Amino acid sequence: MSGTLYGVGVGPGDPELLTLKAARVLGEVPVVVFVCTELKGVAGPSMARGIVADHITPDKTEIAIPIEMSEDLGHGRRAYDAACITISEHLSAGRDVAMLCEGDPLLYGSFMYVLERLGSEFKAVTIPGVSSLGAAAADANLSLVSRTESLLVVPATIDEATLQDRLAMTDAAAIFKVGRHMAKIKRVLGTLGRVDDATYVERASGVDGRVLAFTDAPDKAPYFSMVLVTKRNAP
Ligand SMILES: C[S@@+](CC[C@H](N)C(=O)[O-])C[C@H]1O[C@@H](n2cnc3c(N)ncnc32)[C@H](O)[C@@H]1O
Repeated sequence: MSGTLYGVGVGPGDPELLTLKAARVLGEVPVVVFVCTELKGVAGPSMARGIVADHITPDKTEIAIPIEMSEDLGHGRRAYDAACITISEHLSAGRDVAMLCEGDPLLYGSFMYVLERLGSEFKAVTIPGVSSLGAAAADANLSLVSRTESLLVVPATIDEATLQDRLAMTDAAAIFKVGRHMAKIKRVLGTLGRVDDATYVERASGVDGRVLAFTDAPDKAPYFSMVLVTKRNAP
């Protein structure tokens, strides 16, 4: 019998935000998979693996998927294709495989690329995780939406006009993937008159996390940061 493919949400950074179910499955599976950054051919650290390092015992087989931080989607596609061949060999041999995903596996999560490739062939189970959205709001003690308000989840990587159009239509927003797009976000929120509604959250739930009024946000943000826009409570 084939093994089960698990997509395991490991939460936003604080190891205590791992669910009991995720911890149990990590204890049981013989194979774990995770994405790690790659720079000029050299594999770097994996945020997801780091969060659950205490649960990865030496007897487990580890499969790293090195992904280059670049606009070249072909590189990522090839990396997932190659990893899925190895993963399917384990599953076909009856071994359960858990793919670790920072935050929640299905919110901009890398598990979806493996699920797309292998989900119809093998039994797949997704274990939800605490998302960075919830963690960022919690760190800032910020109410996101209430009553009839709506919340937009949007990546800062889209073009400026589209970002502005989408933000213009919403009460509240979580802007993901801030990184080098801060100047664009500053221009858009300035144009929409929403700078004072915005909060910058870096490495939510992490020991080195911080929450700043958007006006104090750095010009260049790290990858693990987001901007929350709400109708209330901005610090
Ligand atoms: C590929 S997405 C992964 C989202 C993740 N699956 C989740 O559920 O939160 C990466 C983006 O999520 C946001 N993010 C993830 N972890 C974060 C954290 N601890 N603090 C702030 N933002 C975070 C950042 O905007 C980052 O660029």
